[in-house]
Amino acid sequence: MGHIFRQMAREEEHREKKYSDWTLFKRVFGVFGYYKTEAVSVLAIVVTFSIFTTTIPLLLANIIDLFIEPFSKSSAYIINYANSADSYEGIINSLIQSKVNILTPSATSSDINSILIMGSMYLLFLILNFVMILVRTIFFARLGQKMIYRIRNDLFAKLQYLSFNYFTETESGRTISKLTNDVDSLGELLTTGIIDIFADFVSLAWILVLMFILDVTMTLFTLTVIPILLIIAVLFQKKVRSAYRRTRVAIAKVTANLQETISGVKVTKALSREDKNIQNFKGLNRENYSANVQAASISSLFMPIIQIIAALGSTIVIIYGGYAVITTGSISLGELYAFLEYSNRFFMPVISLFTFYTTIQSGFASAERIFEILDEEPSVKNIDKPIIPEKISGYLKLKNVDFRYQKDIPVLTNINLEIEPGKSIALVGQTGAGKTTITKLLSRYYDVTAGELLVDGINIQEIDLETLRKNIAVVPQDVYLFSGSIMDNLKFGKKEAEDKEVYDICLILGLHDYILKLPEGYETDVKEGGARLSLGQRQLISLARAVVANPSILILDECSSSVDPITEALIQKGINYILQDRTSIIIAHRLSTIKNVSQIVVLDDGQIVEQGTHEELLKKRGKYHNLYETQLTSNLIE
Ligand SMILES: Nc1ncnc2c1ncn2[C@@H]1O[C@H](COP(=O)(O)OP(=O)(O)OP(=O)(O)O)[C@@H](O)[C@H]1O
Ligand SMILES: [Mg+2]
Repeated sequence: MGHIFRQMAREEEHREKKYSDWTLFKRVFGVFGYYKTEAVSVLAIVVTFSIFTTTIPLLLANIIDLFIEPFSKSSAYIINYANSADSYEGIINSLIQSKVNILTPSATSSDINSILIMGSMYLLFLILNFVMILVRTIFFARLGQKMIYRIRNDLFAKLQYLSFNYFTETESGRTISKLTNDVDSLGELLTTGIIDIFADFVSLAWILVLMFILDVTMTLFTLTVIPILLIIAVLFQKKVRSAYRRTRVAIAKVTANLQETISGVKVTKALSREDKNIQNFKGLNRENYSANVQAASISSLFMPIIQIIAALGSTIVIIYGGYAVITTGSISLGELYAFLEYSNRFFMPVISLFTFYTTIQSGFASAERIFEILDEEPSVKNIDKPIIPEKISGYLKLKNVDFRYQKDIPVLTNINLEIEPGKSIALVGQTGAGKTTITKLLSRYYDVTAGELLVDGINIQEIDLETLRKNIAVVPQDVYLFSGSIMDNLKFGKKEAEDKEVYDICLILGLHDYILKLPEGYETDVKEGGARLSLGQRQLISLARAVVANPSILILDECSSSVDPITEALIQKGINYILQDRTSIIIAHRLSTIKNVSQIVVLDDGQIVEQGTHEELLKKRGKYHNLYETQLTSNLIE
């Protein structure tokens, strides 16, 4: 477990250096580029909406000044409002102007009508406002979901093409967490966060314009609190981001642990590790809990501070504005109302900018993790113009091949091997000798560290990967079947295969009758990993699956090691038949099964130590002889 944490810590350090905020910002916004039309319509809605809602107080101010206030005070105010009405600008103004002429200090029925009209307009505005909120929400949700859909697809596609080493070095649970938790969190940023922030900026700018129009001095007074806000924002920025980064790592650990324990449930039960696992999980889950609580606490500290500052702004407006209304009358009551409303609204976007700051931080922390996968380069990939051979006959040659998974640990050293097209060789050797590794090089899961690997005389790195892999089928040591029917699994390498073809192959391998005996025959669902079948049964299906793909090169890595010797002897005939005219490499620990292969290669500690027929090798009395003798004796004892 310890190494996982260390690795995660390393990953975190690595990530901090990898993307600057600006790069992240550009890339996250870049996603909108794929949906230009939608993004532009959403932005248009946002701008209209923001301008619309911020104009409502102006409408109210006009109602107060034109229709209400004149009747509540002496007629002296009429001149006042008439003057100030001249300075009004904005969308509503022209609408109001027409009413100015008909006003008198005492209410007439037309005044009451005007009030009614203005009141209805206000109601209409509110209804329109509501409709806009609805449209805005639906549009955002659709656009956001489209982007999430795209990101998740891109991630999945990337994973399909990543090389083997990515999967051996990254726990699958952490990758799953990136595809689920992190995509969701980035999605939240894209669906609400970014767009809301944009809306906030538009409102902020528009409010500022309106405030300046209403009263320049008062606006400047209100703005004095902005530097304080900025200082606080900068101070908090780093803390919030790192807190959210911790939450992303913590949830990934939880998912990774969950994935691993579920996969390893058999071992857990066999070794009675349940309690220990629960303890482990509790630890990780607590870490997740603390990280989230900490992140929430830090970001919640923000709000009260910002609100106090906002209140300070409003206080300035009330004192200064109230004074002006009473004494000089340079501001009307309606104006003061509108200004107070704007100064409050001015701080509202600022407050929500900070609220969304949390979403942004959490979204960016996720974006970093997502980009990590998207930027991962497959270590094995096609060259610019790969060769696409029409047919691969299966002539294999390894020339002075060296290979190491890790820098300092040689796994294969100076391997020279030649296999004629259509011929079989057997690869034997102790556990860890490097047999499976050779098969991985042939399928180009990894590239050789030194030397050359030729297929039909062409360097394997120049051959189109897809063509190469279509022509090579490996029956791996660790069999994996996919959930679905046996038939689905058998056709995995050749979707278009006819049922008849599949039946024939199963007949040859002696599998057909056995499959028919299962509850639903070929349609039996084997469940994830083939959990419903025995290991030997899985091996046989995996063998048949490779043969259905009809490759020119077939690699059998311990393909029948878990099948009982009698069944194995039975299917051996089928295997021999299938291997006819097909280049093949057979890896077997049970030497009795490869006795008849004309070329046996003995691998020891990553090197070829002997080669020849069974008889020749026995005569040599070397490694092969040793292996054979040991097996013979142990079989006798059995
Ligand atoms: N992904 C990997 N990263 C690092 N080392 C690896 C990796 N896979 C295998 N090895 C190492 O490479 C060596 C050869 O492994 P390989 O799987 O080729 O052995 P093998 O001959 O197939 O053994 P067996 O008979 O048990 O299947 C081993 O020492 C193993 O530890
Ligand atoms: Mg192996």
